Amino acid sequence: MAATKNDLSEGLAFFWRKDLHSDGKEVSDLAQRFVANRAKALIYHHQGLGNYFTYRHAIPILEVDAKSIFADGKLKLPDDYTDLGYMWSQAGPPQCALDAIRAHVDEETVAPYPPDLIAPLREIAATQKFKRPRSRDFDVMGVEGAQGGIGYTFLSFLDPGDEILITDPSYMHFAPGPQVEGAVVKSIPLGPHNRFRLDPDEVKAAITNRTKMLIVCDPLNPFGTVQSRDELLEIARICRRNNVLIFNNITHATHQTNPKATHTPMSSLYRDTDVDHVVATTGMSKGYALASIRMGFLAGHPHLLKAPAMLKMEVTKIHNNMLGQYAALAALNDQDYVAASTQVMRRNLALVKKAVAKSDGVTIPVEPDYGFCMCLDVEGTGVSAQELTVALFKQGYCAIPGDALGEVGATRFLRINYSQKEAWRLEKFADALPAAIRDAQTGKYLEGVKGFYRQVKTDRSTRIQQELAARKLPKPRATAAE
Ligand SMILES: Cc1ncc(COP(=O)(O)O)c(C=O)c1O
Repeated sequence: MAATKNDLSEGLAFFWRKDLHSDGKEVSDLAQRFVANRAKALIYHHQGLGNYFTYRHAIPILEVDAKSIFADGKLKLPDDYTDLGYMWSQAGPPQCALDAIRAHVDEETVAPYPPDLIAPLREIAATQKFKRPRSRDFDVMGVEGAQGGIGYTFLSFLDPGDEILITDPSYMHFAPGPQVEGAVVKSIPLGPHNRFRLDPDEVKAAITNRTKMLIVCDPLNPFGTVQSRDELLEIARICRRNNVLIFNNITHATHQTNPKATHTPMSSLYRDTDVDHVVATTGMSKGYALASIRMGFLAGHPHLLKAPAMLKMEVTKIHNNMLGQYAALAALNDQDYVAASTQVMRRNLALVKKAVAKSDGVTIPVEPDYGFCMCLDVEGTGVSAQELTVALFKQGYCAIPGDALGEVGATRFLRINYSQKEAWRLEKFADALPAAIRDAQTGKYLEGVKGFYRQVKTDRSTRIQQELAARKLPKPRATAAE
């Protein structure tokens, strides 16, 4: 079947691995025959790439030529677009990291296989990021970004039937991966009642005798909230008593946007409580704008790290390339960069707050403490976050609505990346957001959004379709700007 207006365009279909000849959903006979069930589980997962709405789906709805947006196949958008969508830092990398790459472009560096990690990089990752020196009980290995840490952790510690506890909403790539291992995702809903973070009592109540793992994503994607030290101690003790492994993802911890907040890596609590059951990860994409080098770290007790280290060696043999390792080492030594980029995040957060204040019906459910990730709640506008995503794309702003992140806020949350180096991008957002709301309130994007979910056919998409079908179009309202 040829691509229709609401289908994915040919070029993007390749990116999403969708098969347009089978209406975007069912995999072809060839794939049905040969693809393993565990991979099919990902293809059909409501949070599998292509099954949730993003600004990319605005392209066919607005009938924009996809090639004009992704001309050379890169993911970076043209300069007149502002990417509030995916979580890569747009604050620019430290100059010293670029210099380190240039300084090491030579045969000696690129010809041999790289080691897992060069020694000074392993040391600084341990002490600076996980705040614990290496010892008999604690070590660090290299992984391909924090995402590599996620994948190896799921593969190493989850068995079929195990339950894994994840917040809802959460980073979109937490829920699909455990399906590959046959594990069962159980979610802990977040909201004002738990201040959009894990409540130790709720963790305790959610644990069953099948619970094997808890993800403590701290700072939390999508809200940027952090757990208190006391909460972390309590969570560590509850999980230890119940034989639950904690996966502590701290990759958003470099930028302290709220000067009053304090982030604590769980591995640093070793003096106060047993943290041998904590495996932690971080990467260089968020804190240092080095997503392309795919550099990350996985840390924990060597007896546990042995499993991901073996998987890495026997399955993928992906060792981080040496140029990336030198760049990471230089970046981690650059405290001035962290201070300067933190100021960029703080400035930008203030600009987003200004834009929200000018946009009737939009609120911030909880203010972020760390990183550059936050949510807007657009419920009061009367339009879904998905329609607003289309309208924002028309204004040159790319965002990701809530169904990428969970059931909670699936049609009312818009996740925002506020790391842009240039202030004008978020200054102009104060005009673009109210204009997009007015545009979406005409209802003209509703059919296009429904068309996307009709084609996706996951449980979540069915629920969202029902929600959208029941919606009455609001009368366009005046915004505070008018
Ligand atoms: C919580 C979380 N973990 C991991 C990642 C992936 O990071 P990396 O680029 O280091 O693989 C992201 C990216 O958005 C994230 O938000």
